[in-house]
Amino acid sequence: MIGQTEKRGILLVAFGTSVAGASNAYDSLQKQIQNLFPDVEIRRAYTSNFVRRKLKSEGISILSPASALAGMADDGFTHVAVLSLHVIPGYEYHDLLMIANAFRRVPKGINSISVGGPLLNSHDDYVNVTKAIKDFSSGFLNSGDVLVLMGHGTSHSANICYAGLQEYFRRLDDSILVGTIEAFPSVQDVIIQLKQRKASRVWLMPFLTIAGDHVINDMAGDKPNSWKTLLESEGFEVMVNRTALAQIVPVVDVWLSKISF
Ligand code: CO
Repeated sequence: MIGQTEKRGILLVAFGTSVAGASNAYDSLQKQIQNLFPDVEIRRAYTSNFVRRKLKSEGISILSPASALAGMADDGFTHVAVLSLHVIPGYEYHDLLMIANAFRRVPKGINSISVGGPLLNSHDDYVNVTKAIKDFSSGFLNSGDVLVLMGHGTSHSANICYAGLQEYFRRLDDSILVGTIEAFPSVQDVIIQLKQRKASRVWLMPFLTIAGDHVINDMAGDKPNSWKTLLESEGFEVMVNRTALAQIVPVVDVWLSKISF
């Protein structure tokens, strides 16, 4: 539009976390993105109402995607690249698409809104992410160790992404297994696999954007049904690596490649 100056912004949208310290991973990811777009303002929103309410009760205000986009329209942004920091195209991602679509129809709003992400959305994403995880884990895995990645899991049909991910890993490195907290494959499925291959030492690592409550409690906690406890009770030696996806530079590069104006 003649006479109008372009104002570009990036909106990072994540599920969110209320765990103090866990959001550091968002900070490092944001820094990596800012380096690539030094002149572009980056804002952040959380999709989880529960997390935002909990943070609010602690005096921390984080916007929802809709509030963030409304604010960016008010502040004169003409081009906004929304980046979904979700892992698979499940409910949170599809909700985000609907919100972005709604804002595209707002008169005198943002001229252009793109939505990139989530992490696993194309063949190349799977190839690049599995390679990045293999390279990263080669820094701590010894021969004979098995790496078990803990994904979230969902009742959304996109849950099949985890079985797909497992197939990409199988072709790349047979010592990496994928499980989920809430769906298929379950930790019990993982245990069956570990027994079949007579594993002795197992590393647990999150396949989650950040290492929040699920990592502290469900993966590495001491409660009876944590993955660490369950695997130990099956006789495996369990090691833990709490590095989350947003902390692995080549994984963040996959997210970065999805930003476009
Ligand atoms: Co959860």
